[in-house]
Amino acid sequence: MPLILEAGPQHLAGMLELFNEIVATSTAVYADLPESAEHRAAWLAQRQAQGHPVLVAEGAGGSVLGFASFTDFRGCFPGFRHTAEHSVHLRPEARGLGLGGRLLEALLRLARAQGRHAMMASIDSGNVPSLRLHARLGFREVGRLPQVGCKFGQWLDLVLMQKLLDERPTPES
Ligand SMILES: CC(C)(COP(=O)(O)OP(=O)(O)OC[C@H]1O[C@@H](n2cnc3c(N)ncnc32)[C@H](O)[C@@H]1OP(=O)(O)O)[C@@H](O)C(=O)NCCC(=O)NCCS
Repeated sequence: MPLILEAGPQHLAGMLELFNEIVATSTAVYADLPESAEHRAAWLAQRQAQGHPVLVAEGAGGSVLGFASFTDFRGCFPGFRHTAEHSVHLRPEARGLGLGGRLLEALLRLARAQGRHAMMASIDSGNVPSLRLHARLGFREVGRLPQVGCKFGQWLDLVLMQKLLDERPTPES
């Protein structure tokens, strides 16, 4: 059974490899070029310095089967501070086994522990496994943005999904 744990420097190479496989082969990430090791290391350091979790699913021998993280949703203004946006990615051979759900449930627990009220996911409209995973965990579609992305010579529609994490009536209650 893979372990879910906080990412460390020893996981950087595995995270980079799996992310770049997704960039090269799918529209799950709206990027065309592979990411560099320096960029991924800076990303991890910044997330952790800001108190944003980065979780990995670790397989045999410490291999990275997947990772998931959240950050502030629209971090440009403090009024969004109770809302987070996450991402979750698995290696091809780790998909379809429920591991995405384990990572996402762990992130939701951490988001609640931070007092977050809402969690957002931005998902390509063609990404059926991700749409289904999020629906199964209680996310609901709250927006569909036609042709805001492009990759592989086509326009891409983005689906926004949301889950409210508590029922508090006002932000500071
Ligand atoms: C999206 C992702 C995280 C899902 O995690 P996972 O552990 O594979 O998810 P699950 O095994 O729980 O499968 C999710 C659902 O999709 C369904 N599914 C899987 N592959 C499918 C396919 N090719 N077509 C249709 N449905 C599919 C499963 O049956 C399951 O349905 P259910 O929830 O109704 O039972 C994972 O597939 C992944 O990392 N994909 C590549 C990167 C990516 O897309 N990241 C998300 C960006 S928003």
